[in-house]
Amino acid sequence: MDKIYFADKFKSHFNAQPRVFRAPGRVNLIGEHTDYNDGFVFPMALNNYTTVAISPRDDRALKIWSENMAEMTAVDLNDNESRRGHWSDYVAGIARMLELESFELPGANIYLESDVPVGAGLSSSAALEISSALALLSTVDGKLSAAELAKLGQRAENQFVGMNCGIMDQFISVHGEKDHALFLDCRTLDYQQVPLPSGQIRVVICNTRVKHELNSSEYNKRRAECEKGVRIMIADFPGIKALRDVSLQQFQQVENKLPDIVRKRCRHVISEDERTLESIDALNKNDLQRFGELMNASHESLRDDYQVSCKELDIMVEEARTLPGVLGSRMTGGGFGGCTVNLVQVNQVENFCAEIEKRYQGATGIAPKIYISSPSQGAHETF
Ligand code: GLA
Repeated sequence: MDKIYFADKFKSHFNAQPRVFRAPGRVNLIGEHTDYNDGFVFPMALNNYTTVAISPRDDRALKIWSENMAEMTAVDLNDNESRRGHWSDYVAGIARMLELESFELPGANIYLESDVPVGAGLSSSAALEISSALALLSTVDGKLSAAELAKLGQRAENQFVGMNCGIMDQFISVHGEKDHALFLDCRTLDYQQVPLPSGQIRVVICNTRVKHELNSSEYNKRRAECEKGVRIMIADFPGIKALRDVSLQQFQQVENKLPDIVRKRCRHVISEDERTLESIDALNKNDLQRFGELMNASHESLRDDYQVSCKELDIMVEEARTLPGVLGSRMTGGGFGGCTVNLVQVNQVENFCAEIEKRYQGATGIAPKIYISSPSQGAHETF
């Protein structure tokens, strides 16, 4: 969809000519629950975007229309309001963080529309944060570097929305590149764009259409358990700052000193970092078989050690693995519902999509949603 479409939509709510910005959702191929442990991740940006059309106002009000919610809301930038538990919190949180960075924002008319599935673990919130940040910045001709933009989005989510997430979702939403997945070191923010062999494989996302409401409380709990692991292991390995600093071999030397749950959580994160590093090697050697095996092992670890999977995700993964051409299948994102990500040989994709839909529905009674995805461009202005 282009600028003219959004300008027309905008004008049915506001009497002005907008600028239009958009930012994508993401799917993570491997490296799950490692970002807030200073580890490694390997996501790609989806060809699904949140679009923000914006024009400045001469007061300090944000008037926001959400096309998806069919709802108009207002945020007063002079109010030091905190979160309301409403979709507009993401925009209000971004505005607050920009003001804390000393950007003095005027009010704005804002039109939002998104085709990133919401509540599916595909980072619709990061897409909204990053597109809003670019849009609000444009009202003051403000600039932030790509990494600063991602960090600002993360701060809005941590400090305003109250979800203690890592940097992965915002970072890929800013940095996504067509035909590439992004290998990111979440400590240094060094990254590498890695081409995916699209002649051989497709990334297929299967949405279980379930979302168990444990999400943010369990997420914050996992994070605290990882931090506890570091506090205990520091006695044996002084100088470690995060689980990223502990090798699997070191972990095995001290794991019996950790409480059961903490041991499992640490084992997942430490082994997932190793799998992620190995998966990049495998891809560089075009060893897609090995890449798929590592994805499978990631799922097992998330299910058994990190305990963030659920019955529906496990069924989706197990059914997928019985189908021809499937190299790997795992849950993706935070967990407790949402999507699986599958690496499927190109010539089997059609059959895969038809079969997985039938089988998952047969086993659960729920009609899934299946998306064939190609790595896409990160946040940008639409001209
Ligand atoms: C959510 C968070 C990310 C990351 C993933 C799990 O998507 O927003 O920062 O921690 O879960 O890998």
